[in-house]
This record gives sequence, C-alpha cells and structure tokens, in this order.
Amino acid sequence: MEAYAYAPGKIIICGEHFVVYGATALAAAINRGTTAIAETSPTTTIYSKNLEMQADLSTNKIPEKLKPLAAAISSTKEYLNEKRGVKLTIQSNIPPRSGLGSSSSSAVATVAATALALGHKLSLDEVIELAMSAERLVHRSPSGVDVQVSARGGLLLFKKGAKPQTLTLSKNVSFVVACTGIERKTSDLIERVKVWREENPSLFNSLVESSTVMSHCCADALCLSDLKRAGAILNFFHATLSWLGISIKEIDRIVEAALSSSAYGAKLTGAGGGGSVIILCSEDKVDNVVKEISSISSEAFATPLPNSGVKTWIQKS
Ligand code: MEV
Repeated sequence: MEAYAYAPGKIIICGEHFVVYGATALAAAINRGTTAIAETSPTTTIYSKNLEMQADLSTNKIPEKLKPLAAAISSTKEYLNEKRGVKLTIQSNIPPRSGLGSSSSSAVATVAATALALGHKLSLDEVIELAMSAERLVHRSPSGVDVQVSARGGLLLFKKGAKPQTLTLSKNVSFVVACTGIERKTSDLIERVKVWREENPSLFNSLVESSTVMSHCCADALCLSDLKRAGAILNFFHATLSWLGISIKEIDRIVEAALSSSAYGAKLTGAGGGGSVIILCSEDKVDNVVKEISSISSEAFATPLPNSGVKTWIQKS
C-alpha cells in the first residue's frame, strides 16, 4: 500500500520580509506542487527524483539538501511514537530555485504522506506544526507563511502566530509567474533586511505597519476583481523591496518588461535576490504576457487562483 500526499507551492502577493516582523502578508497557493509517496519499510529512506539523491536515515551520511525532509520524517515518527521505517519518494513540478515554496511544499507533503503510510490521519494544524520543524532547518526563523499556504491552500491573509484568514474571490484571478532561474538563500536575504532594519529602525517599523494596511487593501481589491488597484499595490511593494536591497537586475528587467506591455502590476515574490516575479494583468492578456516574458525568464507560467492545499490518498499496489 502506498500513501500519497500532494502539497502546492505558493506566491507571496504582498508583505514578504515585513511578515517576519509581525506584518500581515497576502499569499496564495499555486498550480504547481510536490508529491510524496510513502510506504512502510524495514529502514527509513528518502529518494528525491528531482535532485536524483537518496538517503538512508539510519546512517550519518544524509546529503545537506535532504536534511529538511529527514527532519520532517523524524519529527512525524517521533510525534506518532512510531518505530517502523518509511520509504519516501518525492517529486516536484515547482521550478527549482524559484522562491515558490518548494521546500515548504516538500515538507508538508512529506509529513502528510509519512503519517498516512503509518496509518495515521493528522489534522491540518498537526501537519503544519511538524512541517515547520523542516522549514526551521532551511530558513532558521521563518514566519510560517509558506507552510500555512501549502497546507491550507487558497488565498490567505497571514500574520505570524495567528490563525490565517482564508479569502473568497468573487471571480477567479490569474497571476503570471516568471522565474529568473537564479538561486538564492532565503536566510541570507532575511539577514540583509535585518541589517537594513537595524540601521533604520523607526522607518522599518512604519513600513511593517504600511505593509499590513496595503496587504489588506490588495486583498479587498483582488476579492472584488479590481485588478488595477491590486496591481498598483504590487508595484509599490516592488519599489519598496527593491529599495531594501533585495531585488536584482534580472528581476527588475522582468518587472519593467511586464509593465511596459500590458500588466497592471509586477513585483518580486518571496525572499528576492533571484527567485521569481509575479505579474497581474487582465485575464484576456495572460497568455500574451506569458509568451512575452518567456524570452527573459528561465520559465514563465500562469497560475489561476484559488488552488487547494494538501491532499492525501491511498493507492493499493
Ligand atoms: C519567504 O517565502 C518569505 C519571507 O518573508 C520569509 C518568511 O516569511 O519566513 C522572506
């Protein structure tokens, strides 16, 4: 018997970085994600199809990139008081190094598939808490927004330490996602923002407050399908994040190209320093924007919202 779990990646629409310091962020699950397949086994092993890497958790030789998944499995087994082994295979269609939540979706899918293979059905809150143990290894002190979106799905207003608010769209909205293909480490970018904050504490704190106000405005605009107003807010966020020093010329080039065609708004999404850009344009222009942006991105695709969160199922072999 094989236990399957699928968990989506995410885009942060507004409020990244500020959310680490208590601002409310707006984020959504995307139409790409990670599938984990788990079955009971004499030993606990991980195989990542994308990385073409494997690990046996009974040895001390776990590759660095698989350590977060090893932590997710170990925390789950410990929580469930399980001694049995699990063979876990993982595969993702989230573009690598894209800032689209591949580590959090892998952690969420791993926890959910491991628990199901061992005969347990965890609540969403339990999956989130256990997946956070893996995220803490990757990002040191994450706000938790990535894991919350991957587990719950939909469009969320998130504030650290509070239960997220799920929003309902009056009409489906599509974002274009353009990846730079440039790798960056979230923890390094968080550190860069921390230094900026130490040098400008009052200004930074007022930006945290502005970020909350603007995330709520953007949420209202998206829910009412006022894409022009939502796009204007994205542009303001991009300029602010860029000013904090976390954009790069490849990101700015995509933002500029999107705005010079027909987009209402474009901004970096997630940690910055590479990763991806999100673009908001009218629904009838989405395919054209994807085409135009493809030539200056490593990958571009449209993601209609909303998308569901983590799903699990059993497949009898
Ligand atoms: C990373 O996807 C988003 C950041 O705000 C970090 C976090 O919230 O943990 C940069």
